[in-house]
This record gives sequence, C-alpha cells and structure tokens, in this order.
Amino acid sequence: MSKPNDSYTFPRTGHIVRNRGVLAAMTNKQSHADGTLSDEEINWLVKRAEGGFGIITTAATHVVSEGQGWDGEMGVWGDHQLPGLTRMADEIRGYGSISLAQIFHGGMRCPQRLTSVQPVSPSVNPTNDSDNGKTRELEESEIEALIDAFAMAAVRCEKAGFDGVEIHGAHGYLICQFLGTETNRRNDRWGGSLENRARFLLTIIERIRQLTRESFLVGVRISPEYNQIGVVLEDSLDLVDLLAESEIDFLHISCWDCFTPPTHSDDPRMVTEIFAERLDNRLPLISCGAAWSTKHAQQIMEQGADLVGVARAAIGHSDWASHLDNPDYEPQRPPFTSEYLLSQALSEKFIEYMRNWKDFVE
Ligand SMILES: Cc1cc2nc3c(=O)[nH]c(=O)nc-3n(C[C@H](O)[C@H](O)[C@H](O)COP(=O)(O)O)c2cc1C
Repeated sequence: MSKPNDSYTFPRTGHIVRNRGVLAAMTNKQSHADGTLSDEEINWLVKRAEGGFGIITTAATHVVSEGQGWDGEMGVWGDHQLPGLTRMADEIRGYGSISLAQIFHGGMRCPQRLTSVQPVSPSVNPTNDSDNGKTRELEESEIEALIDAFAMAAVRCEKAGFDGVEIHGAHGYLICQFLGTETNRRNDRWGGSLENRARFLLTIIERIRQLTRESFLVGVRISPEYNQIGVVLEDSLDLVDLLAESEIDFLHISCWDCFTPPTHSDDPRMVTEIFAERLDNRLPLISCGAAWSTKHAQQIMEQGADLVGVARAAIGHSDWASHLDNPDYEPQRPPFTSEYLLSQALSEKFIEYMRNWKDFVE
C-alpha cells in the first residue's frame, strides 16, 4: 500500500509528483481588477510549493472576462495576464512542485455588477447576480465560442509554463450547470441525456487536447453530488465512464468531507470508495475534503485515492506536505490568529476573506 509521502507518476505523461499532497484550488481574492496576479497571490502559492506540496493548483481562474465570479479573481483570458502567470509557474517549478491552473467560468454566478453583462447559463435560471433576476440562455454559437475560450485559456497556461490545467466542473459553476438537470433543461444536443449534458465538458477536453502538447496535464474536478441543481451521484458515476474514455490525466472529486457517505444514497461507503470502485484504475483519482493529518491522508488513499487534495489545512500550514513522512503529524486546527496567518504568507485581504469561513480566523 502506498504512503502519503511516496512519489507518484502520472501514467500518460510520466510527470513525477514528489508526494501525494495536492494543494486544492483556493480562491483568495488577491488578484487585480484586470485579472492579473498580485505579488501577494503569487507569494501565497509559491510558499506552498516551497512547503513541499507535490501539486499546486491555482485558484479558480476565469477563461473569458464575463466569466468572472467574484472580486479579486485571477484571469487567464488575456495575454496581459501572461507575465504574472509565467512568474507564478516558474517559481512553483523552482521549488519542485507540479503546477495546475484551475480554469472555469462562473455562468449564472457571475455578478452583473462585475461583468456589466447579464449572466448566462444553459437554460434561463433565477439568479440574484442579474439585474433582472434571471440568466440568459446560451445560444449554440456562444457555447462553441466558450469551448474555444477554455481551450485558448489552456494554451495560455501552457505558454506561461504550467504543467497542466484542472477543468473546474464542480461547485455549481458553468460546467456544473450544464451537468445539472435543474439548470440545464435544453432539448438540443447540449441538454437532456447525460451524454448531452456532459458534451460541453467533453468537448472542452477534446479541444484542449487538440491545441496543447502531448505532455500537458489535463484533469477534471467534479462534485460527486450537487443536488440543488440536479447533479446526482448516479449521474456522476456514469460521468466517470465518459471521462475514463476521454483523454484526461486525472479525475478530482470534491467531497468536502471524505469521511462521510454520500448524502442522497443508501450506499454506506465513503464517496471516494464508491468512485474508486467505478473508476477501477482507469484514471488517477484525487479526492479532497477534511484532511488535516497524515493519518487522514493515508485513510483517503486507503479509500482508493491516488492523491489527496488539501485546502484549509494548507492555509494554516504552508509546509503541511513536508510532514507527510511523519505518520503522527497532527497540525493545529483553526481558529488561527491573523498574526499567525500573516506568517503563513496570507495577505490582510486574504485573511479578511477567511473571516467568512466559520471560526477560521480568531
Ligand atoms: C478559501 C477557500 C477557497 C476555495 N476556492 C475554491 C476554488 O477556487 N475552486 C475549487 O474548486 N474549490 C475551492 N475551494 C474548495 C477546496 O478546494 C476544497 O475542496 C474544500 O475546502 C475541502 O477541502 P478541505 O477540507 O481540505 O478544506 C475553496 C476552499 C476554501 C477554504
């Protein structure tokens, strides 16, 4: 049985990851209004590369300017963003981590006050982010243009020196809105059956593959369940089969808590076990949610994950992954003082944002 501090080799590309610790994508609100990276955002991520993480994932980053979901979000939609992206990728590589940019579009969750346009989604949906309280249904030509935008964003990340991209299909944003039966009620080839609802994601994968080099890593993050918009466990498991046939390098499931069973199922097993069984080693699996200790990481691997995503523990402990050789590592949990978080390379802005997370900042 592999251990959390063992290295891992991606089977298709041969990329070697020095341990199983993956810094999961974390929005931190530190980018400039034009989507360019600030020194603070680069510093926060590079500190986690220095701290030993095998893989570093950026915050969710929008692929077109109208795809922005919140203030201070990094962008990958224009060449003016390349110098910052290049510096970030160079510095992460310098510390020996694999770098991934998490590419996304917020869809119905793109506030009109930020983008100046009515938010879009697969079908017309109610949203507080729109001036008239609802989204606009995407036209077929716009769907095609968005697929191209995802691919061009991946090309830009490749040019900047990132090892790959993670396509963000989780948490209710545009790709997830296509997958969800509540938010996608189309009856053309982009809606209806799971194959149709997954076509947006699968075509994005295909287009990225066409435009990037062989060795570029392409992975997908999904929510196993996002019941409020009609993303249900059975569909997500069927999606695993479709993804296993596509040319991706990993599947990342966002569980929030790897130690609880699915919410809408009689299956008593943990979500990671259920997905690992269905995947049957057809793709590398990353699972993420509530890992604080080395023991947790080991347990998530025993559930069937090849790599373990870590978010909140890594905010509190930039060197979390360098302790994976200690089976008894049990780092301090929140609340953290703001002075302490400053010492972990969070800026005041990021600390302010973390005050929204219950009991995280003292
Ligand atoms: C501050 C913060 C920002 C986050 N931003 C993102 C994001 O941009 N993209 C994403 O897929 N998940 C995001 N997440 C979710 C995390 O990647 C992770 O799935 C979740 O926090 C559970 O892992 P944990 O228990 O290790 O914190 C965010 C989580 C936190 C705490």
